[in-house]
Amino acid sequence: MFRRDAFGRFDPDDFVTAPGTPTRRSLLQGLAASGLLLASGQAQAQRLWANPVFAADPFSLGVASGDPAADGFVIWTKLAPTPLAEHGGMPMRAVEVAWEVAEDEAFARVVQRGTGLARPELGHAVHVEVGGLQPDRFYFYRFTCGGVRSQAGRGRTFPATGAAVERMRFGVVGCQRYEDGFFTAFRHVAEERFDFVYHYGDYIYEYRTIRPGDRPLPVARVMPGDPDEIYALSDYRRRYALYKLDPDLQAAHASAPWLVSFDDHEIDNDWAGFVSEETGVPPEIFALRRAAGFQAWYEHMPLRRSALPNGPAIQAYRRFRYGDLAQIDVLDTRQFRTDQPCGGGWQARCADALATDKTMLGPAQEAWLSEGFRLPRARWNVLAQQVMMMRRDNDPEAGGVSYHMDKWDGAAAARQRLFDGLTQARIANAIVLTGDIHQSWAGELKANFDDPKSATVGVEFIATSITSGGDGAAMTRAGRVGLQKNPHIRYFNSQRGYLRHDVGKERWQADYRLLERVTQAGAKVTTGASFVTEAGKPGLAPA
Ligand SMILES: [Fe+2]
Repeated sequence: MFRRDAFGRFDPDDFVTAPGTPTRRSLLQGLAASGLLLASGQAQAQRLWANPVFAADPFSLGVASGDPAADGFVIWTKLAPTPLAEHGGMPMRAVEVAWEVAEDEAFARVVQRGTGLARPELGHAVHVEVGGLQPDRFYFYRFTCGGVRSQAGRGRTFPATGAAVERMRFGVVGCQRYEDGFFTAFRHVAEERFDFVYHYGDYIYEYRTIRPGDRPLPVARVMPGDPDEIYALSDYRRRYALYKLDPDLQAAHASAPWLVSFDDHEIDNDWAGFVSEETGVPPEIFALRRAAGFQAWYEHMPLRRSALPNGPAIQAYRRFRYGDLAQIDVLDTRQFRTDQPCGGGWQARCADALATDKTMLGPAQEAWLSEGFRLPRARWNVLAQQVMMMRRDNDPEAGGVSYHMDKWDGAAAARQRLFDGLTQARIANAIVLTGDIHQSWAGELKANFDDPKSATVGVEFIATSITSGGDGAAMTRAGRVGLQKNPHIRYFNSQRGYLRHDVGKERWQADYRLLERVTQAGAKVTTGASFVTEAGKPGLAPA
């Protein structure tokens, strides 16, 4: 019933409430006036809370923008006057929320305004797909409801496909376990004033590491009152609300549009397809948990309507163009993958990991990705994904090998298909962006990892976590083994932070931004290392 455009997005419809676009309410009023509504039976307009009065700030969870196109972007908020209470303290009625988009931070030049509907079915989230804007520009947006105005956010349109672009600057973030520390890295991300931010997932964690009574508490922040493991939509909602109350996280959202993806902890540790981490969970039962987790993720992220979940399914892989500079394919390495072979974890010998039917993306997404390699070429082809793509042997013994089955090493044939696709399409400037493992890594993707002299098909930059893993250390045993056993791996660090990418036509620079600690708030950020790759010459060099 939905049409999709070349970027894989559904056609936006009633989430757009730009001037002149009928809202659902005006449509219903029109239908009522024409008599069609009465003739069609029992339909009635959703009950509105017409004159909301809030006892506390309904915008306690902040604002966000995301998924920029050349003509607009999504703006998001979610009404929650008492964010950790049931329903965020909202009544079970829909509420109109006014929004405006301006060219200037003072909102003297408002260029678009309208209303969105905060519906109880979506936890009173508001997603507005703003259109009709100029390409390659920053804008400012804010919401008003019940006489209360939200903070302002800074959004951005992307340059039109093919338009000449000299530079883009963006951040890569993810893995922000609340209990492990403060979100200071997000404060620094906000201060970077990026063009956009890519979030690779693990926005929340579905379990509790610290239980009441545990002593000593090894972390800075204890989560209040939640169950040890969350399954229900109401619990996922509460977990997002707790995270989103963080002022540093809110500042990072307000500073730039985000391209968001999910990894495992938005649902369940190491889930794969319809397979839960826990044994004995039938797929149709795990599907219910996926549906709850996906709905909560959608409700809290600045996503287009194309990502509205359909039960346990969600369309999260999608394509962006940044002028002639970059094509950015955001991938989904959880929903369509096959189960981790040989029982998962580290494996020395696992024939199943080499089987051609093992996949990280699933057949449809693989086809979509390789079709994308044949679109009119941007300078850089960016694959924004989740788990480590380059091979990584973690056995400290010279003769032994050990690969992790949750990563692309668990689907080696699928990785080879991807590399072959890049080679056949003559993609010279492939950049893979990764997260997941709470460490910074940099490495080269080899056509044959057994042969260090084989062609380099691209480079991979792995961003460390915002907090997960706690303060960390510059070097660990895993880092030493990784560098020693894998000649294509060039950098390792196990502190917390984010990645900063500064991209030009001829040169891509990645700066590993690191924090001394996260168990106390306010740490300074420094650049631990910088690597460069040159256009047309796949490979890494220290900057
Ligand atoms: Fe994580």
